[in-house]
Amino acid sequence: MVRQKRGGLLKSTTQRNMKQLKEYLSDVEYTFAQANFSTQPPSLYDPIDYSMHIGGKRLRPTLLLIANDMFEGNTDKAMPAAIGIELFHNFTLLHDDLMDCSPLRRGQPTVYRKWGNNTAILSGDTMFALAWQHMLQVQSPNLMQALQCFNQTAIEVCEGQQYDMDFEQRADVSIDQYLMMTHKKTAALLVGALKIGALLAQAPADDIAHLETFGHHFGLAFQLQDDLLDAYGDTPQFGKATGQDIIDCKKTYLPLRSLELATGADMRNTLLKLMDKQHPLSAQQRVQQTMQIYNSLDIASHTRHAIAHHFDQAAKALQHINLPETHKEPLHQLLLTLHDRKK
Ligand code: IPE
Ligand code: IPE
Ligand code: MG
Ligand code: MG
Ligand code: MG
Repeated sequence: MVRQKRGGLLKSTTQRNMKQLKEYLSDVEYTFAQANFSTQPPSLYDPIDYSMHIGGKRLRPTLLLIANDMFEGNTDKAMPAAIGIELFHNFTLLHDDLMDCSPLRRGQPTVYRKWGNNTAILSGDTMFALAWQHMLQVQSPNLMQALQCFNQTAIEVCEGQQYDMDFEQRADVSIDQYLMMTHKKTAALLVGALKIGALLAQAPADDIAHLETFGHHFGLAFQLQDDLLDAYGDTPQFGKATGQDIIDCKKTYLPLRSLELATGADMRNTLLKLMDKQHPLSAQQRVQQTMQIYNSLDIASHTRHAIAHHFDQAAKALQHINLPETHKEPLHQLLLTLHDRKK
């Protein structure tokens, strides 16, 4: 045992090796491999089982378990929350694919394409309720705080998703507004996962604040990567159809930064027109012409630059957490693993 000073209090910390990132991932995979979501009626539950078993990086439950373990929580006790957070994430995807008209996810047809819009709505709603059911199984003196965090996170994700849709109709979105929307729709859930894991382990408030900063920047980097892959990814590897953001007139970092970089009023006006759904060209032609502009501006490099900035900020936030370096290693590993992700 080592004695470590934390916030004026002496708290004993067992000197131990944290698990490797791959061990947390395999714990999560094992748990989901055992889980069966199919029950009656199959028309409601088969899409849920499908969504929970066709892959996915399992990022959010992994973050939750790592944060919990960093502060010496009990992994078995935190596992229902990890399952709950992944159910919530997959619920958002069922609705998101419907909202974004996305045909593919994880290399498979999306739920609304396979079973219809109404099923995607209702199976999604059920997943949100199932997520709560799992959250409620957690035993911790901090359960109420963790549940409040979960609910606040869910509200934030919905706000982010609404901004995302509202921005489709607008031509005047700033990069700051994009970052605000991205924090809510994507980073908030990574922050929520980390915070719930840490709260269940009764982590100190100042360390939780640093984890939130970590999750914020990690989340922004993660969504910037997703935006980049939506334009430049390889569909078989990425598992999603590329060009969808252009078709949907999403105001991602790529078009917004392109507007800033555009050389001359002509290019700017062409781009603004291509970002409008009323454009007379077909969706395919709009993708082709937008990609030409992106390529001429080397928007991929500019986006990679922004991604690297947020990864750096995330790594900096980790430095402030008052724990031995070994305890932060799995989160460092996660940043490294995802740095150049292709899916
Ligand atoms: C997809 O999340 C939604 C975004 C926030 C970009 P992931 O990329 O984590 O999706 P899966 O679960 O690994 O498929
Ligand atoms: C999705 O953002 C964020 C949420 C699901 C809340 P995207 O719409 O970019 O995610 P993908 O690309 O469909 O996975
Ligand atoms: Mg989408
Ligand atoms: Mg979306
Ligand atoms: Mg996307």
